[in-house]
Amino acid sequence: MQFLEKNEPLTIEEMTTRFPYLESVLREHNDLDCEFEIVEDTIKLASPYSNSVCTNIEGELSYHKTFFYKNSIYKQPLAKALGIKKGEDKPKILDVTAGMLGDSLLIYSFGCEVEALERNPIAFILSKNAIANSDIDLNLSFGDAGKIEPTKRVVYFDPMYTQKNEKTLPKREMRIFREVIGADPDAKIVAVHLKSQSKRLVIKRAIKAMPLLCEPSFTVKGKSTAYDVYITT
Ligand SMILES: C[S@@+](CC[C@H](N)C(=O)[O-])C[C@H]1O[C@@H](n2cnc3c(N)ncnc32)[C@H](O)[C@@H]1O
Repeated sequence: MQFLEKNEPLTIEEMTTRFPYLESVLREHNDLDCEFEIVEDTIKLASPYSNSVCTNIEGELSYHKTFFYKNSIYKQPLAKALGIKKGEDKPKILDVTAGMLGDSLLIYSFGCEVEALERNPIAFILSKNAIANSDIDLNLSFGDAGKIEPTKRVVYFDPMYTQKNEKTLPKREMRIFREVIGADPDAKIVAVHLKSQSKRLVIKRAIKAMPLLCEPSFTVKGKSTAYDVYITT
């Protein structure tokens, strides 16, 4: 990994002093071939395709706040899939594929308590840094969803499928995920594990794709996305 601040390189010691919450990931994955820019306290990924990329928590939360001012949370396909119901306590969620926090922040905006997990060091560094620079209460850990222990939380899984249709990857972040972070070829094995460790598992997929695991309890469909829900009694 390379870190540049005002075009000057920073050493790993300088990085771990400034960002102590990233120490173990920075040391363990220091040999990764990627470049970050440090702008004040923000860590950005230098991208060959566009401007450097970081997780914009404030912008996303503000977008959701405006949207949910006029639109009901309870009608959102993801909220229905997670089991959020008017007049009931909100479920606690474990988002095991945090990525750039897009869905974690949407779920957080539903009013749920969210814990998140991410196994890719690049996505983890960007998102953990963004959380540290914000005042949201969201705990992100570095780890593999394929190793989680039994949980009472509703588990949310959004792996990166091997995409066949380029039209399903319009967003800059998605392109970076695919090119820099890559697909998740073990998604099915991980999904089987998650189903065995939780009472309710929600798996996101493109509406035209097949469910990752067979026989969902039910599916909630949005315009381009479907959520397969697996309820284990
Ligand atoms: C499609 S992206 C998730 C995007 C995210 N939902 C968002 O809205 O920003 C998939 C992410 O999940 C992570 N991931 C995939 N499989 C994982 C696993 N078994 N454990 C932890 N993270 C995983 C990938 O590294 C990638 O960052």
